[in-house]
Amino acid sequence: MSKYKVTKAVIPVAGLGTRFLPATKAMPKEMLPLIDKPVIQYVVEEAVEAGLQDILMITGRNKNALENHFDRVAELEMNLELKGDKDRLAKVMASSELANIHYVRQGDPRGLGHAVLRGKAHIADHSFALLLGDDVMDSRDVLLSKMLAVHEATGENVVALMEVSPDQIHLYGCAVTEGEVEDGVVRITGLVEKPKNDEAPSNLAVVGRYVLRPKIFEILEETAPGRGGEIQLTDALMTAAQHPERAGGVLGVVFKGRRYDTGDKLDFIKATLRLGVDREDIGQELRTWLHEFNNEI
Ligand code: G1P
Repeated sequence: MSKYKVTKAVIPVAGLGTRFLPATKAMPKEMLPLIDKPVIQYVVEEAVEAGLQDILMITGRNKNALENHFDRVAELEMNLELKGDKDRLAKVMASSELANIHYVRQGDPRGLGHAVLRGKAHIADHSFALLLGDDVMDSRDVLLSKMLAVHEATGENVVALMEVSPDQIHLYGCAVTEGEVEDGVVRITGLVEKPKNDEAPSNLAVVGRYVLRPKIFEILEETAPGRGGEIQLTDALMTAAQHPERAGGVLGVVFKGRRYDTGDKLDFIKATLRLGVDREDIGQELRTWLHEFNNEI
């Protein structure tokens, strides 16, 4: 097995979801459904699809619903079985059979870098994938498997990049890059967490997928609080980019597919519609309705 073969994924889900209040007052934001599946299930399915069966979720208070979602529900299963409702039974069972999921709590939330550090004991000395729970990548577009292949071949840290409009870059980690290493893969020489739009060095945003060497933990441990007083993963990656001899350099895979920021209200609605129009059960009717609706507004 290659030294850089990845089998584990980390998914931080401790965020409070304040942008979706009051819906997220008593429910984790990751449980909001895109049509009929909670956001978190799309993210776990993406990891499993890329061959990562071992998943560690970094959770926090009020996140019990996530654990319940990926667990068996004997009573519901029995009820559906008695009714002979095989379709629904399969849907209920799917999430509990999807992957081998572990949980660790973040305790006091001190930023994404701090959340990732909570995975140190579970990950030990293997490379791992990191998937942010708010970002849903359309399963019809390839990203994570390409990032894993680049990591396996080079042993470098890999982040997903997307071009965003210059007025949006302040919402993201922003990358400074130098020429293409191969088609769609660039070397990253610098990173800044959420720069002001007019100070951003590029319009290439880091979007929530990373493949990291375990050495990143050492760097995170010595990373001082950065933007917002939080320990930023972006800052640790900047150190890696500048000192490739420590933890490998940083490469960016430029993603041109469909990404949904489910932490954003407008993007959430767009995601529902984009996925909805291609669904077998409701797609045709939704398309027809959307055309009619378009004439109304
Ligand atoms: C985090 C990261 C940021 C990255 C973004 C992608 O920010 O800190 O570098 O660009 O995720 O979604 P957050 O959106 O959690 O504030």
